[in-house]
Amino acid sequence: MVYVAATFALLALARLPAVLGHARVSSPPIRSPGNNFLQQCGQSSFQSVTGDPTGHIEEQEPVNAGCELTLCRGMLFSDQPSSNVQTVQPSQAMEMGVDCTIPHGGPANVSLIDTTVGGSGAFIGSFLKTFDDFCPTSGPTPADQTQLQYTLPDANTIGNKCQNAGDCVVQLFWATPDFSQNYYYCVDVVMAAAAPPSTTAQVVPPTVVAQPTTVAQPPTVVAQPTTVAAQPTVPAVNAPEASVPGTRLVTSVGGASATGLVANVNGTTQFTGNNANAGRRRARILWF
Ligand SMILES: *[C@@H]1O[C@H](CO)[C@@H](O)[C@H](O)[C@H]1NC(C)=O
Ligand SMILES: *[C@@H]1O[C@H](CO)[C@@H](O)[C@H](O)[C@H]1NC(C)=O
Repeated sequence: MVYVAATFALLALARLPAVLGHARVSSPPIRSPGNNFLQQCGQSSFQSVTGDPTGHIEEQEPVNAGCELTLCRGMLFSDQPSSNVQTVQPSQAMEMGVDCTIPHGGPANVSLIDTTVGGSGAFIGSFLKTFDDFCPTSGPTPADQTQLQYTLPDANTIGNKCQNAGDCVVQLFWATPDFSQNYYYCVDVVMAAAAPPSTTAQVVPPTVVAQPTTVAQPPTVVAQPTTVAAQPTVPAVNAPEASVPGTRLVTSVGGASATGLVANVNGTTQFTGNNANAGRRRARILWF
């Protein structure tokens, strides 16, 4: 115990100058250490991060297995107050305030990260902002490095990702080759539930044109003359066909031969023989 306590005291002393160091993200709130992070990454990481919120991941070693230092320094969403989660929309312009307290230089970039993929998460779209020389060691810090301005990927790029708080972060990643230090800062973001499917397709309410007040009129009913269509006289099936004098009997139809049907020279017809009744029922005679 004495040894451990002394070691912590020495570490604390050795880290004192660094407590004020590096780049500090002043806004929006970044992921901070908590109990779950302590369990996941171990005491050393917890001490390091609480001692220097701006520090690099190398000083968090050693870590427990399963601690993902390259994803938000191992800090977990479950430790964050919900008020720290930024509700955003695709293509939204955002800002990040940074103090370059100890300039190191080196490349840095800002990106939207899907934290649910693999240990270090996955980039969504391309880099939102890149710097060749971040917090440069010489000269004044450029204005766009103290107030970083960037635009989130569009709706098509984000798709249905980032719908749940904790799934996505805006990450500032800064590596300082001269010092072999890597810095990761994470801002939790969640897409607004009502995010439009596309920013180019603006929903424009339809223009309401005042309609003249018209009273619907019932359709004028025109009285129809009561006319009964003359119906063709259909001869009863069993009635004998009227003959037309001077014309010629050509044939008979009706599915059966007109057995016993005789055409007289004077233009009349008559049914004769044993089948006279059958022929009468089945025959229709065409006259021309
Ligand atoms: C992003 O930043 C990292 C860390 O500094 C760097 O290694 C990488 O080259 C950068 N990429 C771009 C495209 O800026
Ligand atoms: C037509 O001829 C038939 C057969 O010869 C006869 O029975 C009938 O009376 C005649 N009808 C008339 C109107 O002359």
